[in-house]
Amino acid sequence: MKDQFGRELTYLRISVVDRCNLRCLYCMPAHGAGFETWDDLLSYEEMVKLVEYFSELGIRKVRITGGEPLVRKDIAELMFRIKEIPGIHELALSTNGVFLKGQVQKLQAAGLDRINISLDTLNRNRFLQIARLDRLSEVLDGIEEAVASGLHPIKINTVLMKGINEDEILDLVRFAIDKSIEVRFIELMATNGLVQLDPQERFFSTEEAKERIEREYELIPLDSYFSSPAQVFSIMGTKARIGFISPISNYFCARCNRLRLKANGMLKTCLHGKEDLDLKALLRSGASAEEIKRRIQEVVWVRPEQHFLNELQMKHQDFQMSHVGG
Ligand code: 5AD
Ligand code: SF4
Repeated sequence: MKDQFGRELTYLRISVVDRCNLRCLYCMPAHGAGFETWDDLLSYEEMVKLVEYFSELGIRKVRITGGEPLVRKDIAELMFRIKEIPGIHELALSTNGVFLKGQVQKLQAAGLDRINISLDTLNRNRFLQIARLDRLSEVLDGIEEAVASGLHPIKINTVLMKGINEDEILDLVRFAIDKSIEVRFIELMATNGLVQLDPQERFFSTEEAKERIEREYELIPLDSYFSSPAQVFSIMGTKARIGFISPISNYFCARCNRLRLKANGMLKTCLHGKEDLDLKALLRSGASAEEIKRRIQEVVWVRPEQHFLNELQMKHQDFQMSHVGG
């Protein structure tokens, strides 16, 4: 399946639930984010059916995200059923890691190929300040278990915030070296959920992060240009990798191969664009497989060429990250 600019769509990100067991400062208010009722979420049957259609349209990689995907029951069961679908060659998970411990083997058995875990700090009090819950030790145990399981690659996602965690950049780099994993530093975005941080005041650029790291380590660029929105480097003499993700730059748009399915069944063809198609309504109205696939192809064809975000517009982002899972 291609869009009008010739980009082949091969990657589907599914947010399986918009709820979360943390309340990160940059993502949602302390009282939560106005969650969907359980009835309004796609069921696993509906998700599996949709992934079958998407796979027939050329999707090859699926990422399970949230909210926090591990707060939904039996996520391994869903993953198993998705991985069984012909054409789905790669299954990934993005999690905050709180419920990961004790699950890694089950997830691997269900077909998990790669995992991204959020970690903004290695300091317990700071974790409490950022995520508003005291769960750092669970997250670190989960990461440990993933490392021990041999799952590869393991990527850590760190949102940089000036005056909050930017002084831990080198600690996180050492953490990556120590565990032989990848840490990706992400620039703060002014999404809807971000209400208690001033995005201008807290913004810390990946460029500056890279400069700091390069004062201590030699970074060797990897050829990730075609596969990832991150600029990825290895660290000379180690197995660790460091990635930098700057959401505002749109250099990735020209090669963007991803679609996003929200937990409520809305399809988005661009992270920063509108909701394009209500797949839950189509499914529940009894639309045929052919009709659903045709409607998907139609909205995919006209997806935007690129986003036009700049730092000013970032203030008016009208999407909530916990609804689309990044
Ligand atoms: N800015 C940048 N990244 C964000 N995420 C959520 N909210 C924001 C934001 N305002 C991303 C981070 C986090 C994941 C769950 O979602 O990568 O680790
Ligand atoms: Fe949960 Fe991720 Fe949002 Fe934090 S950023 S509250 S872990 S969904």
